[in-house]
Amino acid sequence: MVDLLDTAPRGRATPGESVRADFPILGTRVGGRALVYLDNAATAQKPLRVLEAITAHYTNANANVGRGYYQLSHLATDVYEQARATVARAINAEHPDEVVFVPGTTAAVNLLADTLGRDLVGAGDQVVVTGMEHNSNLLPWRRLCESVGAELVVVPADEHGSVPAAVFAAALGPRVRLAAVTHVSNVLGTVNPVRDMVARAHELGIPVVVDGAQAVPHRQVDVRDLDADCYVFSGHKMYGPMGIGVLYGRRALLGTLEPYQVGGGTVKGISTTERVRYVPVPARLEAGTPHIAGAVGLAAAFDYLADLGWDAIRAHDAALVNAAVAAVSDIPRVRVVGDPAADPSGIVSIVVDGIHPYDVGGHLDAHGVAVRSGVHCANTFVDTFDVVGTVRLSFGVYNTEAEVEVVRDALRTVAPGFWTAEHPTERFV
Ligand code: ALA
Repeated sequence: MVDLLDTAPRGRATPGESVRADFPILGTRVGGRALVYLDNAATAQKPLRVLEAITAHYTNANANVGRGYYQLSHLATDVYEQARATVARAINAEHPDEVVFVPGTTAAVNLLADTLGRDLVGAGDQVVVTGMEHNSNLLPWRRLCESVGAELVVVPADEHGSVPAAVFAAALGPRVRLAAVTHVSNVLGTVNPVRDMVARAHELGIPVVVDGAQAVPHRQVDVRDLDADCYVFSGHKMYGPMGIGVLYGRRALLGTLEPYQVGGGTVKGISTTERVRYVPVPARLEAGTPHIAGAVGLAAAFDYLADLGWDAIRAHDAALVNAAVAAVSDIPRVRVVGDPAADPSGIVSIVVDGIHPYDVGGHLDAHGVAVRSGVHCANTFVDTFDVVGTVRLSFGVYNTEAEVEVVRDALRTVAPGFWTAEHPTERFV
């Protein structure tokens, strides 16, 4: 097999200042100030290693995969399958063919709701989710339930934004056919006890889909240790390219799914008269030309994170989360939502009492600080805290404590603005 993917470890760098040179975009200036990029939970910046892997792919190996009987196509196919194997190893999947490349987390959940969900859930059944879900792991299940006459059971989060495993387990009654839970909240960074949740569900024979979008950039995910039936995530939040993500599924489960979309690459036999015969997974679930360069970039991102070291990444997250919590603790009217330091995942959500989160976001932007403010596509979870929205600081491997100080200094001068005055309860993102 050719080896165009450069998987060789590079010298070990440490998260923080020393990796910033890997991310040229961090040199951007915003209105004359240095960019402080703290919207990593929305999307992370891409290291040169990922950008170079994509360029090298298009420069040296671009052809369609599994469709050409010529050397360049064989090369592209090998590279694509190497990327799949790299991802499978990184998440400790048992087989590479348990990794299906999809456009992202949202696409993966929709695929599952429309295949696995329709296979398992019927009228009168229940699907269980937590109250912490991003809309992408809520709406596909809600729509499924509405369309088949099933009930969506939402296990509410407590005042810390957590869902204890025992509370989740109490919702698993005899009508439950499927559960879908987030690993890490995109709003607060709260970590669900996924391993316990899965174990409780499996005692009752209930499969569990885990939304790992906010977990994969911050912790080494082991799908076999979690025992997840399906684990889905996006590449772009973990320093990989946009438009590529992963649907991991246990082989025995994926093999039962009918294609979600049909078309090129999915059929084994087709004639005008006979029943169509589909190829096995993963190709069965990857209709059309896949995002080959995206898969290559995603594999490079996993290698990049592995070289940094997961312990170092976890320690870096903890240092920044603790620094942020401490930095805002003595600023009047600023409150931290939930308990981000309990198991730090690089997210600290705050509110400034009496000031709309969009005004806070705009004020931080004027200081060069990029954050997300509002409901973070998790409207119902944010409602738990009786606030219009939050201001979310989300950290990546290149952020520093000096940047936390920029945030702290900016927050000291925040004042009510347009949104507070004109639309105090408006919320749209
Ligand atoms: N899901 C992304 C976020 O939480 C976009 O910001």
